[in-house]
Amino acid sequence: MCGIVGYVGSRQAAGLAIEALRRMEYRGYDSAGIAVNTGDSLTMVKRAGKLANLEERIAQVGAPEGKAGIGHTRWATHGRPTDENAHPHLSFDESVAVVHNGIIENFAPLRQQMEREGVEFASDTDTEVAAHLLARYYNEGETAGDFRESALRVLNRLEGAFTILFMHANHPDQIIAARRSTPLIIGVGEGEMFLGSDVAAFIEFTKDAVELGQDNVVVITADDYEVLNFDGTPSQGRPFTIDWDLEAAEKGGFDSFMMKEIYEQPAAVRDTLAGHWSEGRVVLDENNISEEELKSFNQVFVVACGSAYHSGLLAKYAIEHWVRIPVQIEVASEFRYRDPVLDERTLVLAISQSGETADTLEAVRHAKTQGAKVLAVCNTNGSQIPRESDAVLYTHAGPEIGVASTKAFLAQVAANYIVGLALAQAKGTKYPDEIKEIWDTLDLIPGKIEQVLAARDTVTEISDELGAVATMLFLGRGVGFPVALEGALKLKELAYIHAEGFPAGELKHGPIALIEDDLPVVVVVPSPRGLKVLHSKIVSNIQEIRARGAKTIVIAEEGDEAVEPYANWLIRIPQTSTIMQPLLATIPLQFLAADIAVNVGNEDIDKPRNLAKSVTVE
Ligand code: F6R
Repeated sequence: MCGIVGYVGSRQAAGLAIEALRRMEYRGYDSAGIAVNTGDSLTMVKRAGKLANLEERIAQVGAPEGKAGIGHTRWATHGRPTDENAHPHLSFDESVAVVHNGIIENFAPLRQQMEREGVEFASDTDTEVAAHLLARYYNEGETAGDFRESALRVLNRLEGAFTILFMHANHPDQIIAARRSTPLIIGVGEGEMFLGSDVAAFIEFTKDAVELGQDNVVVITADDYEVLNFDGTPSQGRPFTIDWDLEAAEKGGFDSFMMKEIYEQPAAVRDTLAGHWSEGRVVLDENNISEEELKSFNQVFVVACGSAYHSGLLAKYAIEHWVRIPVQIEVASEFRYRDPVLDERTLVLAISQSGETADTLEAVRHAKTQGAKVLAVCNTNGSQIPRESDAVLYTHAGPEIGVASTKAFLAQVAANYIVGLALAQAKGTKYPDEIKEIWDTLDLIPGKIEQVLAARDTVTEISDELGAVATMLFLGRGVGFPVALEGALKLKELAYIHAEGFPAGELKHGPIALIEDDLPVVVVVPSPRGLKVLHSKIVSNIQEIRARGAKTIVIAEEGDEAVEPYANWLIRIPQTSTIMQPLLATIPLQFLAADIAVNVGNEDIDKPRNLAKSVTVE
């Protein structure tokens, strides 16, 4: 998730773009850049790091002067956060500048083809290929000299999800932009036109906006905008008036970043999966672990902290089930003090949103000294953990501002499953058609997450009836257990109330003593279509706690009627395979924790007390 701005009008575009980027820094902050059309050429300034670095550079070289410009604040996906990888990207002849949010899935073959034709690339990004392609189409052939036709040709060659803005040196009065699966909004001013990945880009200047639809292209000039389809036929956007202030705009109209991020989960999972299924095979990225090595691993160690650890528990279930090798999981802070038995046939999976967590980093270092190979699952490109690992699989959740992890957690689960499938593929423990079937089930999850989000009111009704609870238990079996742990952690973090997650079967070994009248207990019920014994056992557990006065909040899949008599409240989630259920069942628990936090008087769920987003001390 990156922040994008475009401007054509009567003001100096450079200053305006910088201000817009400042308002969108929450969308990404590992590099920033602008390009301005100075009349007959493009001037670009860009820098890795925070926006302040870019401003410092502009102060040194002077702001480029011109009335059309584009800007970008980056959350790295392909390529580390370096000056070269910062956007904009220029074409080989410096006639085209491009900024992009999203992932161009087919950039590798396009890049290879252009490199064979002699084009030199200046960055590792997926974006740069679009700049070179556009220059090619503009410079030669049927589309020569035609900015619009050239841009359409490029767009039709790109696969994946993207918001992309093109500027051409010969067309100082125009910007051409397009969107597929990621947002793009036009801001309509008086004699000036804006583009933004969200309204925060231009809210200061105009409240008149137009939302573009899927696969729309827009050509803006200072006085007008024209919306097209990818085939060049006319289309229309949806005009609306912005009634948010800046703060609300940054939060997408939600009360908190965390709530916004909960709603970004379909995209977080979709983007994390993007590009990892190609020609009937699972593919990993930035992978310096060979297929032979993948084949040779005879054990996996997962190291992570907090929510990332809970996602790791799910990796254990998935990998053991699909790959049939033992998976051990360790809270990262304990790992190296226990002298775990590792060797070169051990794969260590290090999971971290920030990529900077000191406990996980030290675990990675320890694993490497023991000869193990480390594969990082990380949301932050260029951070320390992936840098020190042998391979990395990036989650594409975008920046997570809320301290309590939501979308990054779900993206981690999806990424862990990709690793599991890649191992199963390499070791041949699943047939290709079985892998395809699992992948297809995973691929349907973003749509199902949307259905869970749409049922948000059910959770609000429950939390309203619960009021200000003092303590709460969470129970699950199988993959429902890590979900229970995650639900309890969210509640502790946000509402500061005592909450515990247990395997439901463990209850009778002690925790059942905690059950008393009216104690709210969340039970995550596995699918009755899966392992029958698991389902019937948890139904018995619900009866046991109900008999002792507990009030049950039951999360069960649609069509599971057996649980109805035992649920004080029932939250339905769509049907999916057992292993995928956590990607759905976690979401109501995020809502529940946020609601209860507000009920107990903790309004600022983005910044729970005593917590930090990135924990860089051991
Ligand atoms: C919980 C939460 C933390 C983090 C943990 C690891 O909501 O956010 O438990 O999951 O501190 O952080 P990363 O993933 O950055 O290593």
